Amino acid sequence: MPIIRESIVITTDADNRPHIAPLGLIEEAGGFIAAPFIPSRTLENLRERPFLTASVTDDVRVFAGCLVGRRDWPLAPAVKIPGFYLAGAHAHRELEVAEVTEDEQRPRFHCRVVHEAAHAPAPGFNRAQAAVIEAAILTSRLHMLPPEKIRAELAYLAIAIGKTAGEREREAWEWLTAKIDVHIRG
Ligand SMILES: Cc1cc2nc3c(=O)[nH]c(=O)nc-3n(C[C@H](O)[C@H](O)[C@H](O)COP(=O)(O)O)c2cc1C
Repeated sequence: MPIIRESIVITTDADNRPHIAPLGLIEEAGGFIAAPFIPSRTLENLRERPFLTASVTDDVRVFAGCLVGRRDWPLAPAVKIPGFYLAGAHAHRELEVAEVTEDEQRPRFHCRVVHEAAHAPAPGFNRAQAAVIEAAILTSRLHMLPPEKIRAELAYLAIAIGKTAGEREREAWEWLTAKIDVHIRG
């Protein structure tokens, strides 16, 4: 199985308007595969403009924010492609779509790396950040999951939040759990 890098992906539309979304980019020789579901803005943008940036950040509020409608994060212009990356990212890659494998649910955009840059030292692992990423994935799948499974997974993830979160992780956790609560209470 290839490794998947959970990234902040930024695409642009024909008017150069950015769209931010967390995406799991699949590593392959010489690049990455982006596999956005149909329908999604990321997919439409990639069809219009075959470029994306992948930003590496430990600010998990960006992952959580995209799931709760907070997408207004500071951006910087990309260097080698039309587009933007996340200002404040530890590193970013600029990717160009080289080939598309069509699929009825999830087309695969095979991308080659045209530029990459490191901006800050890698901060290391944090369990609460991993828990927020998992909760963000749960939040993106609420319509597919039974409430008992959501409750059980949140209860487990809350342990890492309680033991290891800083302020940003707590804020991100609160955004996600508020949205999940509304969904469960229906
Ligand atoms: C960590 C993480 C990884 C995700 N990976 C994918 C992915 O690979 N493909 C996808 O379609 N959605 C993925 N999602 C869900 C999308 O971020 C979310 O549905 C998003 O809104 C995409 O739709 P949009 O482009 O219309 O915004 C992921 C979410 C999270 C939190």
